[in-house]
Amino acid sequence: VSNMLVDSFGRRHTYLRISLTERCNLRCLYCMPAEGTELTPSPQLLSQNEIVRLANLFVSSGVNKIRLTGGEPTVRKDIDDICLQLSHLKGLKTLAMTTNGITLANKLPRLKECGLTLLNISLDTLVPAKFEFMTRRRGHERVLKSIDAAIELGYSPVKVNCVVMRGFNDDEICDFVELMREKPINVRFIEFMPFDGNVWNSKKLVPYSEMMDIVVRSGKVLQRIQDHPTETAKNFRIDGHQGTVSFITSMTEHFCAGCNRLRLLADGNFKVCLFGPSEEAHLNNFLVISELSVKMPGTVRLFLRVSLRDPLRNGADDTELEAIIEAAIKRKKAA
Ligand code: GTP
Ligand code: 5AD
Ligand code: SF4
Repeated sequence: VSNMLVDSFGRRHTYLRISLTERCNLRCLYCMPAEGTELTPSPQLLSQNEIVRLANLFVSSGVNKIRLTGGEPTVRKDIDDICLQLSHLKGLKTLAMTTNGITLANKLPRLKECGLTLLNISLDTLVPAKFEFMTRRRGHERVLKSIDAAIELGYSPVKVNCVVMRGFNDDEICDFVELMREKPINVRFIEFMPFDGNVWNSKKLVPYSEMMDIVVRSGKVLQRIQDHPTETAKNFRIDGHQGTVSFITSMTEHFCAGCNRLRLLADGNFKVCLFGPSEEAHLNNFLVISELSVKMPGTVRLFLRVSLRDPLRNGADDTELEAIIEAAIKRKKAA
């Protein structure tokens, strides 16, 4: 890993999340208002070539895993091509995607051919009517189909992301455990986090200790799987179950100390922390960084972002882009 990707706390950043689009074919209550969010005009979004150029810069400096996210990454028409080009970057070991699974099943064979190696599929409920309420769209059946398609195509493990919200799906935890008994999937219960203007409040947060209690009280014995230090999930096996179950404890036990993650947004903004809102402030022509503090339960966090698109379009060469990336990473906060 080149020095560019190491922050002042010695954390090595080898994992880049790239948001390919702000658009989505769902309208999840916890993510967007019903009318959708205001979209960045498309000329201001990164083109396929720009994405590949920036990704190449990161990979040649030591990033070995890229995760494609959105919005919903599969709504982008050139998704196959993007996967194909990224998967050829020398040094990249994993090309992953986080998707809502709505249109995944029929696209997946092609995506696999294009080099997609790992899949996380979001599914917050096993009840079709609740799915419609939560996502404000139909498609529950299609998501389940996509999960099966991913298993059939040999993706392993297929991770199923379930954001747990009190009063909505906290009564389904045991049903999800039943699903991972039957299917070789990794069900991941995620603590509900506050995002810009979503419907978060602390009453809706179910702490992972409570989620674990629910599983344990149902008679299951959770055996902890030893994790890599950069792992954000606490992973468990249960005897007689094909899959595994995990908890992502972003709120009650954050994992910033072992963070290896960076994020590139669809509009070319670069963030050294995945989380939180950020405003831009011009420091000079090339460096556009902002820091603002956001109050979280019991803690204050700082967020950073910088545009890579603007310098890139102003003709910056690789060395100049690397300097901007490095400056942002060096300013990354401990937590
Ligand atoms: P893998 O670890 O590669 O499987 O991916 P992931 O868990 O990072 O990706 P995914 O998109 O599936 O995210 C699952 C949940 O973890 C989401 O709720 C994310 O918001 C959360 N998450 C992922 N990375 C971070 C991080 O760096 N910080 C925080 N606070 N949450 C994260
Ligand atoms: N808190 C926790 N996880 C969330 N996700 C979306 N919004 C939230 C939130 N407020 C999850 C999605 C998806 C992943 C990328 O992040 O369900 O699985
Ligand atoms: Fe947001 Fe993901 Fe839901 Fe789309 S599927 S509305 S991006 S949470």
